[in-house]
Amino acid sequence: MISAEKIPNNVDLSGNKRLQRALEHWQPKYIQWWRDMGPQGFQDYHQVYVRTAISVDPEGWAHFEYVKLPEYRWGIFLADPTPGRRIGFGDFFGQPVWQEVPGEFRNQLRRLIVTQGDTEPASVEQQRWLGHRCPSLYDLRNLFQVNVEEGRHLWAMVYLLHSYFGRDGRDEAEELLERQSGNRDKPRILEAFNEPIDNWLDFFMFTMFTDRDGKSQLMSLSESSLDPLSRTTRFMLTEEAHHMFVGETGVARILERTCQLMKEAGFSGDVRKLGGIDIPTIQKHLNQWFSLSLDLHGGEVSSNAASYFANGLKGRAKEDSYDDHVVKNAHYTMEFFEQGRPVTKDVLLRNAMNEVLRDWYVGDCAAGVVRWNRILEAHGISDRLKLPDRKFNRNIGMYSGFRFDPDGVPLAQEDWERRKYEWLPSSNDSEYLLSIMAEPIYEPGKFANYIAPPRRGINQQPIDFEYVRTEQ
Ligand SMILES: [Fe+2]
Ligand SMILES: [Fe+2]
Repeated sequence: MISAEKIPNNVDLSGNKRLQRALEHWQPKYIQWWRDMGPQGFQDYHQVYVRTAISVDPEGWAHFEYVKLPEYRWGIFLADPTPGRRIGFGDFFGQPVWQEVPGEFRNQLRRLIVTQGDTEPASVEQQRWLGHRCPSLYDLRNLFQVNVEEGRHLWAMVYLLHSYFGRDGRDEAEELLERQSGNRDKPRILEAFNEPIDNWLDFFMFTMFTDRDGKSQLMSLSESSLDPLSRTTRFMLTEEAHHMFVGETGVARILERTCQLMKEAGFSGDVRKLGGIDIPTIQKHLNQWFSLSLDLHGGEVSSNAASYFANGLKGRAKEDSYDDHVVKNAHYTMEFFEQGRPVTKDVLLRNAMNEVLRDWYVGDCAAGVVRWNRILEAHGISDRLKLPDRKFNRNIGMYSGFRFDPDGVPLAQEDWERRKYEWLPSSNDSEYLLSIMAEPIYEPGKFANYIAPPRRGINQQPIDFEYVRTEQ
C-alpha cells in the first residue's frame, strides 16, 4: 500500500525534520508546475490507471490503481544500499563510497544532478498536448505513466539537491521548475529537450531514443562514488525500462500497421492514401531523434568527462565489465574529421568517456532497430530501417558545423539545404501526421488506423480495459 506520509519515501524523511519541511515547501510549487505544464486537459476530470512506486522491492515495487493525475503520489525511493560498497573506478578506486558530498567536487556533482534533473520536467512539458491526439486509451495511459514517472525522477534529483547541497541546492530546485522547454528566455538546458513533440510518432521515437539516452546517463551515474546518487539512479532505471518499452513497441505497432496497409495498397501503392505512415516518414523521425540523442552524450573529446571519471563522479555503463577501472594511460582510437576527410587518432581513454558511453548507446539502439526490421521481414517487405551514421545532423562535438548524409558522406552546405528533407521530417510530413491524429480515440479497445493494437494490456488487464476514465 502507498504510505500515508505526505511524501512517500524509503529515506526516513520523518526522521529528518529540516529536510522534510524543505521538501514539503517545494511540493506545492511542484504541483502548480504539474498543473500548468503537465498534461493539458487531463488534470481534473480523468482517472488514469497508473503504477506508483511504493518501495524498491523487485517483487512488488509498483502498485496499480486509478488516480487523478495531480493526486499521484510522487515519492522518493533509493535502491537498497550495497553493504561495503567501494568506489569502482577513477583515482579513488577501491576506497569506501561517499555518503556526503566532498567539498572539492560539490560544483561538479551539482552540475551533473541539475543537468539530469532538468531533462525530467522538460519531457513532461514537451509532451503536454499529446493527450488530445491519442491513438487509444491504452496509449494515453502509457503517455501519462511516462509523464508521472518523469515527475518522480525530478523528485529524485530534487531530493539530492535539498539533502546535500544546502542553499545552492534549494535554489537549483526552484530553477528546475522555472526553466521551460522551448522557452526562448528560460529554455531547458539540453537542446533535445527544447524540441516540440506534438505527434505520436515523435513521442514514440523520443521514448525509444531520448529515454534511452536517459538510460545511458543513469547507468553511468549509478556507478558514482556518491552513494545516494548511485542508489537514486539505480531505482530510476527500473522505471525507465517501461518508457523505452513504450517507444519501441509504439514504433513496432506503427510498422505492423504500415505493413498491413502496404499489402492492401498493393506494395507499390501509397500508404498515406490509406491513412497510414509510410516507411520513409518513419525513417526520417528515427534520423531526427537518434541524432538529437547522440548530441546529448556531449563532445567526443572532453576534459569534463575525463575529470568526472578521474574523480569517480560518473563512470562507464557497466563499469564491472571492464578489466581496468583506473585507465590512467589507456588510449581510445577515435575518428576525427580534418580538412574534409576522416583521420584516425589515439586519444587518452579518460578524455573519450563521452564517446565510450555513446558507443554503448549506439549498440543498444541498433539492437532495437534489428527488432523493428524483423516485422518488415515477417511481412515479406524488403525495406529496412537503419540508424544514420553518427556524423549525421550533429550540433554538438566535432561534427557540428559540418554536413553529412545519413551514410556519413560529407556534403556541401548547399547540398544539405537542398536535400535535408529527404532525411529529416519536413513541415509537410508534420502536417500529414497531425492530420491523421486530429481525432483522438477515447473508446476502450479501439485504435487509430495508423497503429496496430498491442499484444497485451498493462498489468494483465485486457486490451479493451478502460485505462483512462472520465469522472461523471
Ligand atoms: Fe526520467
Ligand atoms: Fe524516461
